[in-house]
Amino acid sequence: MEIIDRYKSMNKHKWRIMDGIFYYLWDYEFVPIELISKKANLNVGKVESILRELSDEKMVENKTTEYLGSTFTFIGLSVYSLHRLVRRGKIDMIGKKMGEGKESVVYNCYSEKYGECVIKFHRVGYPSFKKVKEKRDYGTLHFSILTIRSARNEYNALRKLTGLAVPKVYAWEGNAVLMELIDAKELFRVRLENPEDVLEMIIDETRAMFLRDVIHCDLSQYNILVNPEGVWIIDFPQSITKEHENWEWFLRRDVENVLNYFRKTYGIEKDINEVIKYIRKE
Ligand SMILES: Nc1ncnc2c1ncn2[C@@H]1O[C@H](COP(=O)(O)OP(=O)(O)OP(=O)(O)O)[C@@H](O)[C@H]1O
Ligand SMILES: [Mg+2]
Repeated sequence: MEIIDRYKSMNKHKWRIMDGIFYYLWDYEFVPIELISKKANLNVGKVESILRELSDEKMVENKTTEYLGSTFTFIGLSVYSLHRLVRRGKIDMIGKKMGEGKESVVYNCYSEKYGECVIKFHRVGYPSFKKVKEKRDYGTLHFSILTIRSARNEYNALRKLTGLAVPKVYAWEGNAVLMELIDAKELFRVRLENPEDVLEMIIDETRAMFLRDVIHCDLSQYNILVNPEGVWIIDFPQSITKEHENWEWFLRRDVENVLNYFRKTYGIEKDINEVIKYIRKE
């Protein structure tokens, strides 16, 4: 419950300081205290003492080089993104943690607008991202930016897929994506009575997604949910479009994962080339 506890311990000044860090994240990995101070409209001394407090709470990481700078931790970025969703009236209550993986933490939540839903906090390459310093036109790609991009990519893919068998997506802020709660179980947890039908639904869905120019890139029994009504595909941060030069390889790998699973688990044999031909058919 760390995110919720931290959220509760925030106050106006702390939010303003986090606004300042967020604003300059694209230009600095460690945002200079002077800039935070200006943006937050608080004097440097005050900002420094609050940054120290936030660092004790593991919300930010401070670093002194030629200047004192500050950046978000995963918890800090998540709490701040939650705050932005609340501020926009998108979510009213955060509930239980539903799952935690290396690339995300997922919570149940409630929104007056959308009812029961799910909030997914992304965390790409944390904390080992420090090894992957890569120069791009706007500077260093650091944890926060990579993570925000991952959330944005998932949000954009889900929007493109509206109406297909994916969660409806409601909002994106920072590293958080707010989406519909799907009341279903991961494919690998269930013993299907009609595996042929389910496999067909998955292939049809992959084709429908492909027609909208989305290739999942991590399709597997872990990212497919099933219930008596049908199948749902989740988890799109790494999805690509046909603009990607290796899209054919990724599509093939997705299909291969699914076919392998159904062969091993249910003994269903399907020719991968036929399936791919069907998916790519105009
Ligand atoms: N919209 C949703 N409705 C219901 N459950 C969901 C939803 N989104 C995610 N989940 C649950 O949370 C788990 C993790 O979500 P997701 O697959 O999107 O993240 P992940 O990046 O795979 O995390 P990991 O790092 O564990 O791989 C899912 O396996 C599923 O159980
Ligand atoms: Mg997953």
